Amino acid sequence: MTTASLESSHPSADKRLKMLDATMKRHQYQQDALIEILHKAQELYGYLENDLLLYIAHELKLPPSRVYGVATFYHLFSLAPQGVHSCIVCTGTACYVKGAQAILANVEKVAYIRAGETTANHQLSLLTARCLGACGIAPAVVFDGTVLGNQTPESVCNHVQGWLQHGTD
Ligand code: FES
Repeated sequence: MTTASLESSHPSADKRLKMLDATMKRHQYQQDALIEILHKAQELYGYLENDLLLYIAHELKLPPSRVYGVATFYHLFSLAPQGVHSCIVCTGTACYVKGAQAILANVEKVAYIRAGETTANHQLSLLTARCLGACGIAPAVVFDGTVLGNQTPESVCNHVQGWLQHGTD
């Protein structure tokens, strides 16, 4: 059910679900570990999308209402990027070494926002994640749910600039 929809919305280069599963396993699917698991999920995905919350609820055998309750209670969790489009720059070690900071700085410059913010025209939310499980193609960036590797500050800016301009039409 939700696993399939999570997997189908991401290409095979995306190992985030596997990494999330490994985290839940490490915590032995304990319901007490919900906050840690939500943390990990947000670290991997940048924000907690609906399917992700349902999936975690299912795996921990918790009512979805409980998981939503916790996710909405804590300010450090965000349930959705506020913008029409989202750009998640991986700042994990492998991507950092290959220039993730320069990518992030460049997007911040062209979009006039900082990581974690959304542009005034609501076209773009810029987020960061720590390791998408795509280290082999570092530096990796997720554009609207699609992971692309071997990115450069220029390629990422070209991608988001189209979105930013679209908002000014
Ligand atoms: S550190 Fe970026 S994908 Fe692993």
